[in-house]
Amino acid sequence: MNIILLGPPGAGKGTQARKLVAERDMIQLSTGDMLRDARKSGTEMGRRVAEVMDRGDLVTDEIVIGLIEERLKGDQRGGFIFDGFPRTLAQADALGELLDRLGQTLHCVIEMQVDDDALVERITARSTCAQCGEGYNDIAKPIPADGKCEKCGGTEFIRRADDNAESLKQRLMEYYKKTSPLIGYYYAKGKLCSVDGLADIDEVAASIAALLDRAPA
Ligand code: AP5
Ligand code: MG
Repeated sequence: MNIILLGPPGAGKGTQARKLVAERDMIQLSTGDMLRDARKSGTEMGRRVAEVMDRGDLVTDEIVIGLIEERLKGDQRGGFIFDGFPRTLAQADALGELLDRLGQTLHCVIEMQVDDDALVERITARSTCAQCGEGYNDIAKPIPADGKCEKCGGTEFIRRADDNAESLKQRLMEYYKKTSPLIGYYYAKGKLCSVDGLADIDEVAASIAALLDRAPA
């Protein structure tokens, strides 16, 4: 089963994608994570990507479509979770073409509905285990009292360079201008479902599981 998790920064796309990976053997394709890896590479492309991301702007369609195309050729296991991709109509068209070429179907686009006030709070409280990438949140899911990651025992936690009020404002602007039109795009294709992303993490997971269990194969 191939699905898209669609929602603004902090909607919980990464949190829910990781649960689906653990529970359904799906493959998380997060263009944000791929670009964060690219910026660590120290190449000229990585440096340019870092500048764009830190401002809160979108990276070019060409770069992210290339990253996704590369990953679709690999292992497909329980299907793909597109996390943070597509983000523009051009990316959505490209994804449709790539899946068609592979004889694959897009089963469901899950819009995670949240409100902007919750996003600011979530983003500024977010941290991630440096070792395994497990996500934490000072309010919703604090780092365990012993200071060790509950998944891997790691003791170093990092905060993202774009998780500040100024970049977040720009990330939200980009979402409303360029990504939110995808809600109508996928509705018209009969693929759109939505969940209440403001519910607690396990409740959101249960709503997504119910949608996936009902989605046509
Ligand atoms: P990306 O990494 O995709 O970031 P984003 O879309 O801004 O989304 P986030 O990762 O911030 O939020 P999330 O929805 O994953 O929330 P999370 O689960 O972490 O993109 C970063 C940048 O890369 C972009 O700005 C752009 O520059 C570039 N980029 C990426 N893809 C691109 C593309 N396709 N095209 C062009 N450029 C692209 O949750 C957030 C916090 O809330 C966590 O602390 C979590 O614990 C907590 N939380 C989660 N769910 C709940 C809940 N239900 N209740 C309470 N707290 C919760
Ligand atoms: Mg994310």
